[in-house]
This record gives sequence, structure tokens and C-alpha cells, in this order.
Amino acid sequence: MDKLIDLISKEVSDAFESAGYDKELGKVTISNRPDLCEYQCNGAMAGAKQYHKAPFIIADEIAQKLQDNDKFESVESVKPGFLNIKLSKTFIREYIVKMLHEKKFGVTQPGHQPKIIIDYGGPNVAKPLHVGHLRSAVIGESIKRILKYTGNDVTGDIHMGDWGLQMGLIISQLKEEQPDLPYFDPEHTGPYPKEAPFTISELEKIYPAASARSKEDEEFKAAAMEATKLLQDGDKGYRALWHHIMNVSIADLKKNYKNLNVSFDLWRGESDVHEVIPGMVDYMKSHGYAHESQGALVVDVAEETDTKEVPPCMILKSDGASLYNTTDLATIDTRMKEFHPEGLVYVVDKRQELYFTQVFRCARKTKLVMPETGLSFVGFGTMNGKDGKPFKTRAGGVMRLENLISEIDEKMYSRIKEGTPDIDDAEAKDTAHKVALAAIKYGDLSNQPSKDYIFDIDKFTSFEGDTGPYILYTIVRIKSILNRYEQEGKSVKEALLADADTDNQKTLMLQVTRFADAVESAARDLMPNRICAYIYELANDFNSFYHETKILAESDENKKQSYIALLATTLKVLETGIDLLGFDAPERM
Ligand code: ARG
Repeated sequence: MDKLIDLISKEVSDAFESAGYDKELGKVTISNRPDLCEYQCNGAMAGAKQYHKAPFIIADEIAQKLQDNDKFESVESVKPGFLNIKLSKTFIREYIVKMLHEKKFGVTQPGHQPKIIIDYGGPNVAKPLHVGHLRSAVIGESIKRILKYTGNDVTGDIHMGDWGLQMGLIISQLKEEQPDLPYFDPEHTGPYPKEAPFTISELEKIYPAASARSKEDEEFKAAAMEATKLLQDGDKGYRALWHHIMNVSIADLKKNYKNLNVSFDLWRGESDVHEVIPGMVDYMKSHGYAHESQGALVVDVAEETDTKEVPPCMILKSDGASLYNTTDLATIDTRMKEFHPEGLVYVVDKRQELYFTQVFRCARKTKLVMPETGLSFVGFGTMNGKDGKPFKTRAGGVMRLENLISEIDEKMYSRIKEGTPDIDDAEAKDTAHKVALAAIKYGDLSNQPSKDYIFDIDKFTSFEGDTGPYILYTIVRIKSILNRYEQEGKSVKEALLADADTDNQKTLMLQVTRFADAVESAARDLMPNRICAYIYELANDFNSFYHETKILAESDENKKQSYIALLATTLKVLETGIDLLGFDAPERM
């Protein structure tokens, strides 16, 4: 479906052309003076030089040509040579009706579905999820939904850190605490126990203890490194123990991500490409991509145009061990061979940007990917506390994601109980969680991903201003009006949209027509904040209309049903918007 702005640009361009000017001058933009007009065209200003004419003479000519065009309510030429444009109400209404019949409200769908893999979440198994993992999950989930909505075939992969030193630390600690476990008995034959020798809460205590100890106790650290190597080399007992760690942790991770309304199609991890590494390393060597440097194996990735140093990509350390990027490269290799994606998207802390520059360059140079494969890095900034420093608990420790969410859930629960005393407990809890998620996710997503932001819970949970709860509140308000309309025995579905009869209504209708522009721009730049900005404006335009209009009390039935149709449309667009952000609205709040 053509965008509204393109349709009107075409009319204005045609007018320029038929008056003997360059068509290109007819480009229209959204007005930066909404008090004066809806769209504007500055082409006469640009044309003035080219045609040696005063700009207002050109503007006058164009305005004259568009006088009788029924897409416009008015086209005014104003000095020194601008065109101020207002659209016809019928044209806007017809556009909305068409948009409602289109798939995805007119968002352009590609001819074929490009395959995209998105790497987000990135939790480290057996370590508690902390707020640092929140951003990757929240932004990644939204980008996944936006890319799907814009016609891509998207696969989300969690890419767990499940193969590193943390495993050796846990194994070594367990070996000390429970040396009699069969996993540590080299003589053990037959199967290992089915039950894990620890619960998730025990596991969560083992890791921090072992990690703290390794910082003081050199011997313990060496043992943990040795255990990591044994595990990776395939020690049977250690592998069995590792499977327990994985199962117990993944069950917990699934619970946590579900609570966040975040899901993954693939639950792969670093361990999954362990076997791929030797073949990939041989390939890089035999094709002459990798060379030895001070005992290590590296691929040079610096480019002449670099203004900052980009160090070589280290593939193997001098002791032959692989590194974080070896795993990432092997993962790229596997993803390409198994899924043949057209693009890979990584949602990772922006402090890893240089690292991903190296990895991407290395993948291109070694032809693990095709020249045309898209490799995108969405680097996000830090979530800070009100003091401007990385977010901490009140006691100053690392805040666990679970605790953060339940704190906000509780806060919302008491507010909802206060506001709606007759609400039953189950609904109050469910609603509280929905509002909490909207607060957290919108608070994050309304910022450009690369920016640091301040996690200000009082601001994020407010029902007013640019917040998730404000958007939900608007949705709930619309739902309640529509419900009452149906209670009058009338059908929302059958309500017919008419031309706007007030300025506020027209503004709201115009805003509705811009949905696809917002979604496409968010998809193109991988920026969910564009959707936040759009639904915030839409909610504001709706609320201005609502405060000025009697809706259910309107006595003219035609007007009333038109209002209802517009409300139903606004609701659909808002609900689609929040779904793309990864949260949903309750029935009441
Ligand atoms: N596990 C990593 C961390 O916590 C993030 C993984 C990001 N993804 C990737 N493919 N390297 O920092």
C-alpha cells in the first residue's frame, strides 16, 4: 500500500511538472508547524535558484494548480514561498478504510521472506540473570517482533554462555563439598543419577562462592581451569554433571524469560559449536586466512581506512585454547550452513562493539558468510540508577532481574488494589504484572538502544507522561468505551467511519494513517524507540479527542458510530504497537 505522504507527494510533484518545473521539487514533508497545516512542501524555495524566479511566484502557481484537487482541503502559498497543505477529510477517511483491509495495516511486505537470525538474551548459565541481561532480552524481543511484522522469517537464538570457566568453577567447588559423588569417581561405570545433586537455589549459591574464592585462591582457580578443560575434552563424569547444571539452569531461565514475555526459537549455546571449532580452524589455516603471531593463531582484520586500531582477531591462544570469538565465529559458520540466513542481528552491550567489528570482519574475510549477508550489531547502552551509575540494589549489590520485577509487580499491585477495590486478587496480580512489564519495557525501549538511560521506577510506573502505563491506560479507556457501546446493544464491528468533523478528530485520524511509516522506520534502523514515539503521539491525539468529544453521549447516531469506529481503529493500532514492543494490556486498571 502506498504511504499517504507518497500519495500526496505525487500530486504535488505532478503539479510542479505540469507547470514546467522539475518533478523532484514536489516532495512533501510532515509540517513542522502543525498549528498552520498538516504537510508542507518547500520545493518552490529550492526551485527559485534553478528557474531564476521568486519562490512565491512558483508557490502561487503550484497552489493554483492544486486548487481543485480533491485530495486536498487547501493548498496555500505563503511568503516567502512555502506551500502549506491540508488534506481532505474524505481522502484521510478512505485511506484509513483501505489500510484496515490491508494485511498488517499497510506495512510493506517483501516479495519473499528474508531469513534473519537474531542473537539476544545471551544469559550465562548457572549465573543469576541480572539487569544487564534485561536490555538484551527486551530490545531483542521487540526487534524480533518488528522484523517478523515487516515480513521477515525470523529465528531468535538465545546464545547461552554455557561452556566457560563458570562451569569449571562449579564443578571444582562441588568436588570439594561432595567428593563422593559418582561424577568424580574415575572408576564409575554405568549410568549416572538422573537427579541433579543440587537445586537451582543451591546452584545459584555455588557459583558466586566459587567465583569469589577463585579470586583469592590461586590453586582453586587452577583446578577450576583444569576442570573446564577436562569438561570440554569430554570427561564423562564432568559432562554428566554439566548436563545437570544445564537442565536445572535452563528450567529456571525459561521461567524467568516467560515472566518477561520473552521467547526464543533456539536455545543454543556456546557448547553447541564446540565440535565445529577444529574444522573451522583448519579451514582458516589451510586457506591462508589465519597465521601465527607470537604463538597464537590470528586473522588480521585491520583496514586502511580505520581511524582507530582494530586488533587482529585471535582464533586460538598460544596454549591452543579457543576464545569467546572463536565460539562466535563457529556459531556464524553453523548458522550459515544450517539456516542460510540473509542477515544476522546481534543485540549485545555496546561495550562489545569493537569485538563485533573484529568478528564480523573476520567472518567476511574468511568467507564464513556471503558478501551480501547482512551483519548488524545493535549495541545498547547501560541501564543506570538515579545517581547516573550502573543500576544497583539499595544495598549496593548487583540487582537480580527476578527481584527487580517482583518489586515492581508489588508496587503496581498495591496501586491497582487501591484504584479498583472490588478487583479480585488473581486479576489484580495479573494486571499488576502487565503494568509492571509495560513500565519496564517501555522505559527501556523508548530510548534509542545505544543510549545509556536512567532506570527511574517512579517515572516509569506513572500513569501520565511518556510511559508504558500511560499507553495501557489509554487502551483500557478505549476498551471500556467500546464495551459500554456494546452494552447498549450495538456492534462495534459494524460501526462505520465517517469524515472527521472536528480538528481533533482529524488530527487523530491523520496520526492513524502514519502507523506503517513508524513500523517500517523502526525495522529499517532496528530502533523500537520509533514505535514508542509513534504510539505515544497516537495516545496523546486520542486523549485530546476524547477530552473534547462526547462519544457515548452523542445524540447523532451517525456521528456516534463514526467515533466508535475511530476508537476501535485506534485501539487496534495501539495494541499492535505494544505487541511489537513485547507487552500487552489488561482489561481494566
Ligand atoms: N553471554 C554474553 C555476556 O553475558 C553475551 C553473549 C552475546 N552474544 C554473542 N553472540 N556473543 O556478555
